[in-house]
Amino acid sequence: MTLLVTGGAGFIGANFVLDWLVGSQEPIVNLDKLTYAGNPDTLISLQSDARHTLVQGDIGDSRLVDGLLAQYRPRAIINFAAESHVDRSIHGPAEFMQTNVIGTFNLLESVRAYLPTLSGAEQDAFRFLHVSTDEVYGTLESEDPPFTEVTPYAPNSPYSASKAASDHLVRAWHHTYGLPVLTTNCSNNYGPYHFPEKLIPLVIHNALAGKPLPVYGDGMQVRDWLYVKDHCSAIRRVLEAGKPGETYNVGGWNERANIDVVKTICGLLDQFRPLPQGSLHSDLITFVKDRPGHDRRYAIDARRIERELGWRPADTFETGIRKTVQWYLDNQAWVQGVTSGAYRNWVSRQYGA
Ligand code: NAD
Ligand code: DAU
Repeated sequence: MTLLVTGGAGFIGANFVLDWLVGSQEPIVNLDKLTYAGNPDTLISLQSDARHTLVQGDIGDSRLVDGLLAQYRPRAIINFAAESHVDRSIHGPAEFMQTNVIGTFNLLESVRAYLPTLSGAEQDAFRFLHVSTDEVYGTLESEDPPFTEVTPYAPNSPYSASKAASDHLVRAWHHTYGLPVLTTNCSNNYGPYHFPEKLIPLVIHNALAGKPLPVYGDGMQVRDWLYVKDHCSAIRRVLEAGKPGETYNVGGWNERANIDVVKTICGLLDQFRPLPQGSLHSDLITFVKDRPGHDRRYAIDARRIERELGWRPADTFETGIRKTVQWYLDNQAWVQGVTSGAYRNWVSRQYGA
């Protein structure tokens, strides 16, 4: 038995691969294009582990994917591969359409051709798990109930529109061709190996360097934060027991305003790395121009996955963010490896000098 994981050198995919191989002998073939967001260093501990095979390539490369499916005959595919950063999608949406929409389409077509090569029992057991986001549901007002699995799609950014399109393709390939698909729509993740273009690792990275902590607009936008290891456990559970054709919302019941998240990180850094002469990390907070089309609030109603599959997050925001800040302090070599020239180009494009 083998899993094909796509995008497994990125933030969530790599956490999934690392966690999987702690608890299972089942091998993983990891197909990753190694874009700026994919980092083989994250997987360095698996370098001589025969259970992990990293293949550099594109989910949209049908010939490559068909070859991998024929060679490894996976019993499931978990599709993490995507362009994932909203701000980058605003500057340049083309890559998002290419990978998230066309790439997913090509991958589904490869799976459609692969399924009939399996025995009846293997076909019954096969699953295609598509990892998606709560952003497909659009934005909430402060008094609105959280997103459920039947909330209508209303994506607002090029990123979320491309993810919504991919979710629709996955759904259609189930209804039309009978592909045994599962879709998860998860809220904001944070934790180890998070690329420092996203809010939490960016704030930790800048604070340690004594640089401004950029907060968009009034900082009162709300996100629902989930520790990445809890997202990985939810994916394992959906893979194991999810009903083909169904979608599962995944979230941590941890709504926080951005400004409060930033202040929490500053408070932890004040404890772990106090600044001289009574200065505070929060002195670095700088309000900057808002993100165009910025969604005000996301919140996930995760009752379905809890009721039907018995999944619950293990970490609260308080326990998860403490571990995360500590991880970044302990893993500065990893951070230095990913904050290379290309990263600096992005920072100056997005935030100016
Ligand atoms: P990430 O940007 O850190 O990693 C994406 C990975 O996909 C990288 O390793 C990259 O090299 C790879 N990739 C990109 N294009 C590819 C292609 N064409 N073919 C093969 N590999 C390709 O993203 P992430 O934060 O780990 O997110 C993983 C998935 O989870 C995405 O689908 C994202 O939409 C979804 N998601 C993310 C969050 C979050 O908070 N980060 C929340 C919910 C859902
Ligand atoms: O909700 C799930 C989504 O969460 C995933 O689908 C995306 O892949 C993931 O990137 C994330 O999207 P967000 O846009 O919510 O994450 P980001 O870390 O970019 O921003 C979090 C919030 O912080 C958001 O309201 C914008 C704000 N922000 C972000 C950055 C980078 C700032 O205020 N300043 C910043 O510099």
